[in-house]
Amino acid sequence: MALIDGNLVARQILDEIKACVTTLSPLVPHVAFVRVGDDPASVSYVNKKQKTSEELGMKSSLHLFREDVSQEELFAQLDALNADATVHGILVQAPLPAHLDATLVFNRISPKKDVDGFTTTSIGRLVQEVPGAFAACTPAGIIELLKRSGAPTRGKHAVIVGRSLIVGKPVALMLVAKGLDATVTVCHSRTANLGAITREADILIAAIGRPRFITADMVREGAIVIDVGINRVPEASKKTGYRLVGDVDFDSVAPKAALITPVPGGVGPMTVAMLMQNTLHAALLSRNEAA
Ligand code: GUN
Repeated sequence: MALIDGNLVARQILDEIKACVTTLSPLVPHVAFVRVGDDPASVSYVNKKQKTSEELGMKSSLHLFREDVSQEELFAQLDALNADATVHGILVQAPLPAHLDATLVFNRISPKKDVDGFTTTSIGRLVQEVPGAFAACTPAGIIELLKRSGAPTRGKHAVIVGRSLIVGKPVALMLVAKGLDATVTVCHSRTANLGAITREADILIAAIGRPRFITADMVREGAIVIDVGINRVPEASKKTGYRLVGDVDFDSVAPKAALITPVPGGVGPMTVAMLMQNTLHAALLSRNEAA
């Protein structure tokens, strides 16, 4: 078993981006964050993304709304950010409260500023394999981790557990695309005989949001295991009162895996790195359009 070190790979990518940002002056890539409510995980993710963008010499701004914000109010903010030529990327942190239609909210973002890759346009481009399309950050981070770990995908069976817009569906599209050429199965909460399918996986991607759900009996000897889960489980001995665990039962699965991502320090840092890459890309697009 070998660990895939997401912190290390993300650091390499961030260093590459930082070097590029210094050459862009007077252009300063700017990513705007929109957060609704005070979900502690969302607060922590947006803080991390803001800190990282500033460390790279980019600009970030934060637009906060109460939990009961109306869709119209949120749209007005997104329209203003779309119209602001100094803003290159816009990210609305998910999950959103139930009274908001997440698809409508994401689609309000200009496709040119869709650094999260969740608009219908970006997802459509992914299906069509349009080069340079904005790719959702967590899936793009998973692909980058596989590539930089030398994990082969061509002809391999990738099994994804989870069908979300944020991870499961886009990572399936990326893996099946020409160039990566994997054979892909997408499983979810209604899948029958889940263990029989996951045991067939050469590459197993767990993105279901259930702590330690994937156990050793569900994993083939020698599989590559990517754990997307970041679950807070209560732990009295910790100062925070919780401990982060993945969707994979790491202790039992790791001895069977050829390669495995830890939680924390696996996919999480890659999501942030890919957001920075998309922001740089959006800034360069806007500069080329203005020229
Ligand atoms: N919530 C969890 N992951 C993500 C992400 O990649 N982008 C957004 N906007 N929200 C998320």
